[in-house]
Amino acid sequence: MFLGYVSIKQLPMETVMKLLLVDDNPSNLFMLGKLAQSSGIADVQSFRDPLQALEEARQTRFDLIIVDYMMPGMDGLTLIREVRNLPDYIDVPIVMVTTVDQREICYAALEAGATDFLTKPVDMAEAKARLRNLAMLREMQNKLRDRADWLQTEVHKATHDRLSVEEEVILRLARAVERRDPSIASHLVRVARTARELAEELGQAESYCQDLYIASLMHDIGKLGLSDDLLYKTGPYTADERRQMQAHTLIGGEILEGSRSRVIRLAAEIAETHHEFWNGAGYPRGLKEAAIPLSGRIVSVADVFDALTSERPYKAAWTAEDAARYIADNAGLQFDPDVARAFSLRYFRILKIREQAGTPFGFAA
Ligand SMILES: [Fe+2]
Ligand SMILES: [Fe+2]
Repeated sequence: MFLGYVSIKQLPMETVMKLLLVDDNPSNLFMLGKLAQSSGIADVQSFRDPLQALEEARQTRFDLIIVDYMMPGMDGLTLIREVRNLPDYIDVPIVMVTTVDQREICYAALEAGATDFLTKPVDMAEAKARLRNLAMLREMQNKLRDRADWLQTEVHKATHDRLSVEEEVILRLARAVERRDPSIASHLVRVARTARELAEELGQAESYCQDLYIASLMHDIGKLGLSDDLLYKTGPYTADERRQMQAHTLIGGEILEGSRSRVIRLAAEIAETHHEFWNGAGYPRGLKEAAIPLSGRIVSVADVFDALTSERPYKAAWTAEDAARYIADNAGLQFDPDVARAFSLRYFRILKIREQAGTPFGFAA
């Protein structure tokens, strides 16, 4: 192995290298231990029994290993193979000690995963240089690994920060909708929390449940595009007004479409489909069953339950029992039967959502 034309004396090792030494001959062990120490390797653990050495390698992360070939219990080749199979040992330098005439064994050792050889009788100067080089190789590997770990942490942190800003912007947009239509104040947060409960009950991944929670906050964002007359009307709608009101789904989809953000794409899907019916009788497109995205099917149940149990200018609030009965009665008609079942299973947890304050992420209302 070539490490460039730099004197090895110019590259002092900064970390303590751990060396595992395995040889059944005590005087060889002593000699190799001395050699390692004079090569700058301070932490040397010596074993005469290869099985014990293997056990120790399982517990401790060594940086360098020197193995004899002929040993009772387990030969050096087998030991190298076993060590290479351990986690964290894929690139640890392993040196095999052989005699000059053991060429075939050298080939087999390379095959088993040996990195280098020392031949007996050991030339002390050569062996010292080899060990220094291998120790430096290991140190560089360790530094690269530490740097890769550090980079991974930084990338993770940056992604997390970006997601938080994304969440905050979404929340503030949801708040803009609430200001426009005060009758739905707290409705958005309760729908979002209920949707997350339902997604969890349906066995969805944690990341999806969290995305759904954030995205649901914008399910009625299209109401920003409705006229005041329509939005604040308390009496029954004419057919034309009803059509305009129903357009809040498509307006919401337009506001949110084409985003690079996964959460905002999910929000667009929900805005467009949260008034679709399982049997195809909903709006805006009359989609049916699985053609309605799961997010829309979930938010539909959460939205209707919250709307029914809330007082509106044109209706009194239903009791939670009546609203739950409505959802059960309309499973397979208005609602996805699986989502309706998830609702009944999470009913008592969903009831608690109504008792909690409606401010997500700790923002003041
Ligand atoms: Fe809506
Ligand atoms: Fe809603």
